[in-house]
Order: sequence, then structure tokens, then C-alpha cells
Amino acid sequence: MSKKIFLSGVQPSGKPHLGNYFGAMKQFVDLQKEHEGYVFIADYHALHSLRNSREMNENIKNVLLDYLAIGLDPKKVIFFKQSDISEHTELAWIFDTITTMPFLMRAHAFKDAQAKNKEIDVGTFNYPVLMAADILLYGPDMVPVGADQKQHVEIARDIAEKFNNTYGETFKLPNPMILKDVAVVPGTDGKKMSKSYNNTIPLFAEYEEIKKCVMSIVTDSGEGIPKNVYAIHNLLRPASELLSLYESKAGKYKELKELLIEDLEKFIAPLREKRKEFAKDIPTVLLILKKGSEQAKIVAAKKMEEVREKIGVNIY
Ligand code: AMP
Ligand code: TRP
Repeated sequence: MSKKIFLSGVQPSGKPHLGNYFGAMKQFVDLQKEHEGYVFIADYHALHSLRNSREMNENIKNVLLDYLAIGLDPKKVIFFKQSDISEHTELAWIFDTITTMPFLMRAHAFKDAQAKNKEIDVGTFNYPVLMAADILLYGPDMVPVGADQKQHVEIARDIAEKFNNTYGETFKLPNPMILKDVAVVPGTDGKKMSKSYNNTIPLFAEYEEIKKCVMSIVTDSGEGIPKNVYAIHNLLRPASELLSLYESKAGKYKELKELLIEDLEKFIAPLREKRKEFAKDIPTVLLILKKGSEQAKIVAAKKMEEVREKIGVNIY
């Protein structure tokens, strides 16, 4: 039996935090043990918010280092960059022609922008279409993402069905893969951990930064068990261990926060060190991405040939 395939993308939009790691990144490392995988840097997607070439350049390299540091193995996973594979934008155009405006207007990101009276650019409006192309070119069985990306994967599935119904069976229908326990990792204020809420704990934080973040966790003076501290701690230790610990130290917020700092440091320090090692040799690291893109290109080009055949533009 052939191995199942997973695929996911990450925007090069800054430092990853624990929400990104437990919600999505960790799944890639776990899945690579038994599955064939594609993980890519969605640099064209990031253009909607990142319009500075130097920053884009740096961020791309940073994502690469982040993933190598958490243990993504380029021998097991094809790690590539979206902008290296022109088939993504090419297929997105073809999907544009079978996707209606009202359908895309149901997307959360669009509705949010509309509710805030933001003038949304066409790229942001079309974001889910490019994402559909990213996914469908490689025929993954599963797309591991955090809960906020579920709708995007469902849109990709609908677009695949529409294409198949119009032109004949071409694309495998993808499924989002969302782990219930980490679908929404909470931040230091209890809301979803997110850069835009300023409530994150960076995945590669230095000790002092970890301390600062943990000390800023919001606690309510009436609580026996500080739930925001517990929720983050629970990412590192199972409830079976934590509950009795928290019960025995009920009300002692400072002590519990100190324990969390130590546990976070134990977890983060090896990742941080590994990242620094990789960062010493950027040319070698870039070569990994370049090779991955070459491999991905072969798969994407083959699928695109099939698409061109199906829509009838192949005449030579
Ligand atoms: P982003 O940096 O927002 O593009 O997110 C990258 C990945 O991390 C996506 O799969 C998100 O769904 C996931 N993610 C981001 N924040 C969280 C969170 N607080 N909890 C769970 N998953 C998250
Ligand atoms: N939209 C995803 C995010 O913001 C990134 C992404 C782009 C992606 N293309 C994808 C994720 C394809 C999974 C599959 O996190």
C-alpha cells in the first residue's frame, strides 16, 4: 500500500509562537515518520501583509531555520518555497474562472475585513483560491492546520469538486487535519495565541523572554487554579501530572508560574540551540530549500500538464 500524503504551508510572517508549534508545526514532524509530506513556505500568500523585500528575504530564511530546528527532516519531507513553483499561481488563475464571487465572500477573512470596513485587496480576497492550488497540485490526503484554516481547506475541497465536475476527475479531495486538543492554543491572556493580540510565547524565546511572557500571564485573584497558566502548562505536561500539582499549589500563582518557566526552558532550550547551529551555515540550509523546490516542481508540472489537457489548451 502506498504511503498517505500530507501537505501544509506556512507564511513567512515573523517569529513562530507556541500556538503555531502545537497547533500545526509539530504535526508535520510527527507525520513525517510514517507519511510522505510536503511542507512549503507560502511567500506569495504573505505578500498581502508583507511589502518589504529585505524583511521578506529574512523571514523566508527564518522559517526554514525554524522548521529544521524542530526536526523536520528534508530526507523525509519535501520542503519548498511557493514562489519557486509558478504552477501554483497558474492553477490559481484557472480556479478563479470556476469560482464565484459570492462563494469567496463567505470566507471568514473576507467577512472580517468587510465588518471592519477595510478596503480589501484582490489578493486577499483570492487568498483561498491560491491556497486551493497549493494543496491540489500535490494530491494530499490530509492537510494539518490549526482550526482557523479549516474553512480554507474546505474551500479547496469545493473548488476541486467543481473542477472535477466540469472537466472530469482530476483532483483528489483534501481533508483538513485538526487535532482537537490544540485546535486553539491560548495565549498569555487566555484568548487564542496570536501575534496580532500580543499574547504570544515565541517558540525560540531566550530564557529572559520566556520569564517575561510567563510573568505577564493574566491571572484572576479569585482563582485557586490559575487557568491561563494551567492551559499553557498543559501543552508540556499531561493533565494526569498537572492537576495534582496545581491542586497542591492552589492560589500560589508565583510558584506555579516559576514551574512553568522552568518547564518551558527545558522544552525550548534544545530547539533554540539547534536553530543556532543551523543558522551558522545559511548556504547549506538554502540548498535544502532549493532542492526541495526542484522536487516539488516535478510533481506540480506533471499535474499542470494534466490540467492543461483537461481544459483543452494542449494542442501540440
Ligand atoms: P499563521 O502564522 O497564523 O499563519 O499560522 C500558522 C499555522 O499555525 C496555521 O496552521 C494556524 O492554524 C496555526 N495556528 C496559529 N495560531 C494558533 C493557535 N493559537 N492555536 C492553534 N493553531 C494555531
Ligand atoms: N493560509 C495558511 C496560514 O495562514 C498558510 C497556507 C498557505 C497553507 N497555503 C496553504 C496551509 C496550503 C495549508 C495548505 O497558516
